[in-house]
Amino acid sequence: MSETAAEISIYDRIGGENALDRLVAAFYDNMDALPHAADVREMHGPELTEIRKVFKNYLTEWTGGPALYSPVKGHPRLRQRHMPFPIDNGARDAWMACMTKALDETLGDTPARRELEGNIAKLADWMRNRA
Ligand code: HEM
Repeated sequence: MSETAAEISIYDRIGGENALDRLVAAFYDNMDALPHAADVREMHGPELTEIRKVFKNYLTEWTGGPALYSPVKGHPRLRQRHMPFPIDNGARDAWMACMTKALDETLGDTPARRELEGNIAKLADWMRNRA
C-alpha cells in the first residue's frame, strides 16, 4: 500500500528530530538577535536553555512525532500558559518573524514547511490575549 503525503506526519516530512533541533535553535537565536523581537525576548527568562528543550518537545509531539511533551507537562493548555504574557498583534508578529526566519534558514520552501508555518501562525493568532 502506498503512503500519501496526508498519511505521513509533518514531523517525518520535514526531517524529524534533526530538523526540529535546527529549527528550535534558529528560532531562539533569532529571538536573541532581532531588534524588533526585544519585547518578546524580554518576556522569557534570561536563560533559554530549558524553553529550547520544552518547545522542541512540544513541536515534536504536535507535528506527529513521539509524545515527548504531555507525559512530562500534561495537557498543553497553551493559551492558558501564555496568559501571564501580554501578547498583542505586535508580539504575535515579532514572535512569527523569529519563526519565519528560522523556517527559512532550516527547512527551505517545501510544501511541508508551508503547512507547518500555516499551522504555527494559526496558533500564534490564538495566543493573543491583549488588544
Ligand atoms: C504569539 C506569540 C508568542 C509569544 C509572545 C510567546 C511567549 C512565550 C513565553 C514568554 C513563554 C514562557 C517561556 C519560559 O517559561 O521561559 C512561552 C512558553 C511556551 N510557548 Fe510561547 N509564545 C508565543 C506563541 C507560541 C506558539 C505559537 C507556540 C506553539 C507553536 C508556543 C509554544 C510555547 C510552549 C510549548 C511553551 C512552554 C509551555 C510550558 O511551559 O509547558 N508559543 N511562550
